[in-house]
Amino acid sequence: MKEKIIGVLLDNGGNFISGEELSRQLNISRTAVWKHIKEIRGEGYVIEAFPRKGYRMKKKPDLLLPREIKRHLNTLRLGKSIEYLARVDSTNRRAKEMGLQGALEGTLVVAEEQTRGRGRLDRQWFSPRGGIWFSILLRPDLSPQQAPLLTLLTSLAGVKGIKNATGYSLYIKWPNDLFWQGKKAAGILTEINAEMDRINFVVVGVGINVNIRHDHFPEDISSEAISLMEEGGESVSRPKLLATFLNEMEKMYDQAQLEGFKELIGEWKKYSTTLGKRVEVKTPRGIIKGKAVDINEEGALMVEKEGGGVIHLLSGDVYLS
Ligand code: BTN
Repeated sequence: MKEKIIGVLLDNGGNFISGEELSRQLNISRTAVWKHIKEIRGEGYVIEAFPRKGYRMKKKPDLLLPREIKRHLNTLRLGKSIEYLARVDSTNRRAKEMGLQGALEGTLVVAEEQTRGRGRLDRQWFSPRGGIWFSILLRPDLSPQQAPLLTLLTSLAGVKGIKNATGYSLYIKWPNDLFWQGKKAAGILTEINAEMDRINFVVVGVGINVNIRHDHFPEDISSEAISLMEEGGESVSRPKLLATFLNEMEKMYDQAQLEGFKELIGEWKKYSTTLGKRVEVKTPRGIIKGKAVDINEEGALMVEKEGGGVIHLLSGDVYLS
């Protein structure tokens, strides 16, 4: 019932609706309406109530509440089941735990804040309130070798989702960073649980610096990191952005499983800043210098080495040189 009341108040814009009208529409007593309104206020919604005028929604809480995400979601699987946490160590850690316990494909774990957010290569990931920190559990019908393509797919869903929700045009730095004005706005950490020839599940974790003030970034990343609010000049609705991201991601995920990744890779290339550039790639086996020439069908970056020959890289840190 609370969902319905919130829905009616939101659909009513900033206008008042009388208690009588609410009770008629929802077929409950006026006392029941008032009881629910009190509970809804307790969740952070600011609802005005005046005698003779009725109720109106003044402000929604700035939280990633499942109901706020679902208002913008048009997926069949991604985000249909949501675990919402005010604070967690890492949404990826939690999603992996749920994966082992048999949670459904598409399960979303989302947190307002992470205390031990993880980045690639065991780095820490700064995750204060104001960002979007989430993990999606997938059970794809793909081989373990194809798992890196899910990172690629997610980065494409990221640029498109952000564009649809905000109008901002970000681009992708291979393999998983979303950049804006030369600085990192979002990152993706994909983790896989698999047998030799079969994926049990994949957890795709995404961190987006949304409404974070620049002076809040720790010193070691402040020259490389950017937030959408800081660069765009206004705060962004996080539930809408997350839902738009998931809407894009599900479309691509379904397409990839039906038709393969060819078309998505083609589209990904349009948003990539890496291809055609001279790069230095830091890999676990040393630094590789050369020209990034293409992405192959597994999502590997193909680098034409300075000394000759082409090398295929599935992971690494890329520096444009
Ligand atoms: C990177 O660029 O190094 C990847 C960053 C991934 C961060 C996200 S935030 C949500 C999810 N949970 C984590 O602990 N990490 C990912």
